[in-house]
Order: sequence, then structure tokens, then C-alpha cells
Amino acid sequence: MTHAKSFDIVVLPGDGVGPEVTAAATDVLRVIGDFYGHSFRFHEHLIGGAAIDATGDPLPPETVEACKASDAVLLGAVGGPQWDGGQRRPEEGLLGLRKALGLFANLRPLQVSPVLAYRSPLKKEIVEGVDLIVFRELTGGIYFGEKTRTADRATDLCEYTVPEIERVARAAFQTAQQRRGKVTSVDKANVMETSRLWREVVTRIHAEEFPRVELEHALVDSMAMHLIRKPREYDVILTENMFGDILSDEISVLGGSIGLLPSASLGSGGPGMFEPIHGSAPDIAGQDKANPVGTILSAALLLRHSLGLDDEASSIEAAVAAVVSAGAVTADLGGTLGTRAAGEAVIDGIRAIHWAAAHRVQMHWA
Ligand code: IPM
Ligand code: MG
Repeated sequence: MTHAKSFDIVVLPGDGVGPEVTAAATDVLRVIGDFYGHSFRFHEHLIGGAAIDATGDPLPPETVEACKASDAVLLGAVGGPQWDGGQRRPEEGLLGLRKALGLFANLRPLQVSPVLAYRSPLKKEIVEGVDLIVFRELTGGIYFGEKTRTADRATDLCEYTVPEIERVARAAFQTAQQRRGKVTSVDKANVMETSRLWREVVTRIHAEEFPRVELEHALVDSMAMHLIRKPREYDVILTENMFGDILSDEISVLGGSIGLLPSASLGSGGPGMFEPIHGSAPDIAGQDKANPVGTILSAALLLRHSLGLDDEASSIEAAVAAVVSAGAVTADLGGTLGTRAAGEAVIDGIRAIHWAAAHRVQMHWA
């Protein structure tokens, strides 16, 4: 093919179900490569508990170097009870990599199709048609502030600078312009100084650069309630690191299964990192039970955001929508398929979509 391109993708399977779901997603990417004439070179590296076991370090320097030299990073999950109480924690690997790659914006999109709406614990009329995206600040706040610990006292510092707030706010407003044009900025400005700064900066960036986007502010506690009562009202939700962590797990329930949801972590230039929002699920690890869709959709985001391959991303998303509608899904969504079979169903979906497209072209020539 004339437009053939070749890309280096670092794969970090990590812990628990991570290796199974990343294997399903790289299989899908290989098929996409064949159809569109791209070559994806996968480079597997260690992170998290697996890296602690092999090297003592949850983020070996080789992993960071390989990620920096890549076009994009696909991650499974990190963590598990076997590393509790150890010297190093698997999560350090993930946090360290986000920081090392400068991935300040974490995007977590959620769309609830009519098919999924009935799987939600909430009423169908509340969740059907939800279409929102969380912009979570990812390299600042209480996650990265100084931590202290003595025998009878512990502290975590929550710190934000103006440029840190400005850059993630801009990213959220830009995305809102391409969607329904509304940003809800979430903070705790009635209590926290960092939240008062957050609100001030977001308000100024809005007035100076994005006056046509609608902006509202919400306090995180009432937002937790509104997300359950009227989730359809939201378009882009912009928030700081820890509030975004908590709210995005809450939101994942709206769509019926956390196993479906992808995320993209982006910086300014450089490779992005893409991972499902679910964790390592140690209780079902190695049993061919995990839903691979969150990671497969993360691979689609990887194609779109890091490699600029929009058609390729859309064909994965269309195939996922088709298999989910057809009920070719894992047990978390009421299906009977294992991880591998659910991944193969998506691949069959991609083949069917391409066959149909090629067939139309032939008919047209005839
Ligand atoms: C997430 C996870 C991580 C986080 C953990 C594993 C460190 O919960 O990506 O949401 O808190 O950011
Ligand atoms: Mg989380």
C-alpha cells in the first residue's frame, strides 16, 4: 500500500488481567495493520508488580526509555494484593510513568448506548444517551505533593500551579468546542485553596480564550450526586487529579460495566499512554474472564490520538458497537464469552465491516 506506515508501540501488560487484555488489543491492532497496510511493532516491557518481582523496581529505567522512544504506549493494569506491605508499590510504576512522559490530561469518555442502558443499575431513562468525557488532571495535586510520615502523623500535600491548571483547562475547552460546547469544572472551592485557584484560572481561560463554550462550576460532593441523577446533562467534565480518579469510577457504572471503558493520557507532544480504566482484577486473573473491550477501545484511542489514524480507530469502535449489540460479550455484560473469544468477536466485526466496504466498491465498478 502506498500509505503504509510503521509505528513503534510499547506494550506494558503489567499485573492481574493486564496480560490477557493487552494481548486481545494487540491482536486487534495487528488485524487493523493488515487491512490498512500499517506495520505496528510491539515492544513489551515491565511495569508494576511484575517489574518489582523481576527487578525490584516498579518502573525500571529501560521501560521509561522505551516509552519515550515509542510512538505510543498501551498499558494493561498494575497492582494486586501480593505486593501489599512491600517496600515498593506497583502503582508507583504507573504514577512515575505518567510523570516521566508529562501526561497531564487523562481523557475518559463514556457513551451509553440503548443496548447497554438496561445493564446499568440506574434506570434506563436516566442513563440512555449519556455522552460525556472526563478531563482529569494527571500529574499534579495530592498524588504528587510531598508525603510525610512519622509514627503518629501522616501528611499529603495538595499543590497546583497556574500553568498546570491552564494547560488541562485549554485541552478540555478545545474538546468541548468539538462536542456540545459545555464544560463543567469540578472542585471543592468552598474548602480548598487549590480549588479556589483552580476555579479562578478556569474562569479566566474561559473568558479570554473560549467565551463561546458554556462553563459551569460544581462542587465535587454535589457533582457526585448529579452524576447519578442527571448524567445526560454533562458534556466535558474538567477536574483535578484525585476528584477525577473518584468521579470516573462512579461514572463507569452508568454504562453497565467498568470493563468497557478506555482512557487516553496525553501530554504536549510525545507519546501518549492508553489503558482501560479498570484495574488488575486479581480475583479473575489468568482465567480468560476479563472483558477485553476497555483495552481494545483504548487501542482505538491510541490510533486516533497518538498515530493520527482516525478511520482505523473508527473501524474498531464500529466493530465493538456491533459485537456489544449482538451480545458477543463477556460475563460482566451478561454474555458467555471468555477474554479471547470476545477479542476474536471484535476482529470478526472488523473483517465484516471491511468486507462490506470492499463489496460496495466492487458493486459500484460492475
Ligand atoms: C486510575 C487508577 C490509578 C490512579 C491507580 C492504580 C494509581 O486508580 O488510573 O484511575 O489512582 O490514578
Ligand atoms: Mg482510579
